[in-house]
Amino acid sequence: MKHRLEFKNISKNFSGVPALSNISFSVEGGEVLALVGENGAGKSTLLKILNGDYQPSSGSYLLDGKEEHFSTPLEAINAGIGLIYQERQMFDELSVAENIFVGRLPRRHGIIDFAELENMAGKLIEEFALPVSPSEKVKNLSVAMQQMVEIMKVYSRNPKVIAFDEPTACLSDKEAEVLFRLIGKLRTQGLVVIYVSHRMKYSGYQTKSSF
Ligand SMILES: Nc1ncnc2c1ncn2[C@@H]1O[C@H](COP(=O)(O)OP(=O)(O)OP(=O)(O)O)[C@@H](O)[C@H]1O
Ligand SMILES: [Mg+2]
Repeated sequence: MKHRLEFKNISKNFSGVPALSNISFSVEGGEVLALVGENGAGKSTLLKILNGDYQPSSGSYLLDGKEEHFSTPLEAINAGIGLIYQERQMFDELSVAENIFVGRLPRRHGIIDFAELENMAGKLIEEFALPVSPSEKVKNLSVAMQQMVEIMKVYSRNPKVIAFDEPTACLSDKEAEVLFRLIGKLRTQGLVVIYVSHRMKYSGYQTKSSF
């Protein structure tokens, strides 16, 4: 299914100071929408509104034609929003598999089923064709691979929308290529993909809207 996301006249003020004024655009599944703007332009603020971290001061957003209002990130996740935050969200001491399925660990007789957990993570890793073991601790991974784990976590919740906030900030050109391959895969699956950057160099996708 091809999903659709629409923002209508979104504004956000922090203590009376405007961060966003009347932002309106829509994005269809199967395309990657790049949001490009300088530091402080309000890119993360918009994604955090979509993700239920912040409430808009005014305006609305619609997912698949239905107006939504997420009070918390959990509500947004359950409705199909997947945000890969600008700030890292990993548990260093936990494994790749535990990080992907944190909060949803499979259990058997009330005890975590580690065999099943590694099996579930292994399938995802295979689908993404990444050179990483499900049992590896996240602290031992490169920043780039940690980001791939974060993407697998968000993807494993079957999102309708997946939004990347400055994903290439810490990546080399080669690592960014791997990321773009993954983004291409998500796009072909009909997901709405939003890609935020202030690095024009890597905004290899058509820019439909910019701040
Ligand atoms: N929680 C907050 N409280 C007060 N002001 C905030 C808050 N979050 C963001 N702002 C302000 O809103 C504006 C937009 O910030 P935002 O982080 O959305 O920008 P950005 O486009 O993501 O920038 P960057 O490229 O640096 O990540 C900035 O002026 C910032 O200081
Ligand atoms: Mg930001």
